[in-house]
Amino acid sequence: MLFKSAIITLATIGAAVAQRPSNESICDYYTTALLKQNNATNQYTLLTLLVNTVVIGNYTQPNVGVSVPGILSPKGMYNGTKVNLMPYFDGGLASSNNGSKMGVAKNFLDGGAAAPLMKNMPADDKSSNQYKLMTHLYQFFGSLLGCSGVGMTGFSAYSGHASMYEVHKFMVLDPYEVGYFIEQVGLAAASFGVAKTDINAVVGVLESMFDYRCAPKSTAIKSQGLQYQSICSDEKCPLAMNSTCAAQPSLSQPLVANSTLAGGEGSNSTSMSGTPTSSMSSSNSPSSTPNVAVQYTPELTGLFSGALLLLAL
Ligand code: HEM
Repeated sequence: MLFKSAIITLATIGAAVAQRPSNESICDYYTTALLKQNNATNQYTLLTLLVNTVVIGNYTQPNVGVSVPGILSPKGMYNGTKVNLMPYFDGGLASSNNGSKMGVAKNFLDGGAAAPLMKNMPADDKSSNQYKLMTHLYQFFGSLLGCSGVGMTGFSAYSGHASMYEVHKFMVLDPYEVGYFIEQVGLAAASFGVAKTDINAVVGVLESMFDYRCAPKSTAIKSQGLQYQSICSDEKCPLAMNSTCAAQPSLSQPLVANSTLAGGEGSNSTSMSGTPTSSMSSSNSPSSTPNVAVQYTPELTGLFSGALLLLAL
């Protein structure tokens, strides 16, 4: 359901949320805490609030005073290193995987950019790249957080690509970029009053599953089974235990798309300059070793049976 108004009354935001019972998932628990009735529609609303905040930063009132810059912020910083993820989303880089051998430039802000997100919508236009991406993110994170209503009326099951390595491989993301993204998820949750222990559990799972290079296959979405899930594929990313790099190599940096994209989109065959973006590569040179708190362990193979359990506990 799309909202006509940006005003949503969050029941207990800012108030002390009692401790989550061990038999209730993070999604179900905070849906009840914040939106009162725990059903598929409200769970989808919670995921919309969370993911939209991750993308554009704080936009809801009230919130608990946690500042969330958002993944599109031009002033992102992670462990003292500048991060700017915008060119991956606005078509500035030929970094999207359309199934061909090279990345293509694609504009994911073609559905009204931030304005609809601020109205708790994924996009203005259902046929936009933005609508597809945002709804896939609601669905994917809804499963990760154990929403019991996923697959029911009001909350469609994840229908995007199964392998996060394949989706992100032409982006060649480094640990600062992935770390910044994951940090925004944690901050967004904190801004809605999610307890620290729950945030740590989520962040730990995201780091373990996506923030190591060449990780063996694991399961994020149960129905999609074992898949390569490493989103961090730049050589600066820490190597996973039991790494399988031959199957998921680190590719060369994405090419810079034309500053004005012909027709909004383009491939990197003719319309791109031949050098990696200098601003991206220079701004992202590491100044310190990334701080990845959770070490990859063999038990994290097939994580999402595991992780979903962890989050559902
Ligand atoms: C924990 C980290 C992350 C998770 C779990 C995640 C998850 C996802 C998911 C589920 C999709 C939708 C795939 C589909 O529609 O088939 C997606 C797409 C995308 N993600 Fe990520 N992502 C993460 C980090 C990042 C980072 C750091 C960036 C940096 C720019 C990024 C950029 C994108 C872009 C541009 C797309 C659209 C790709 C396309 O459709 O071609 N993601 N991501």
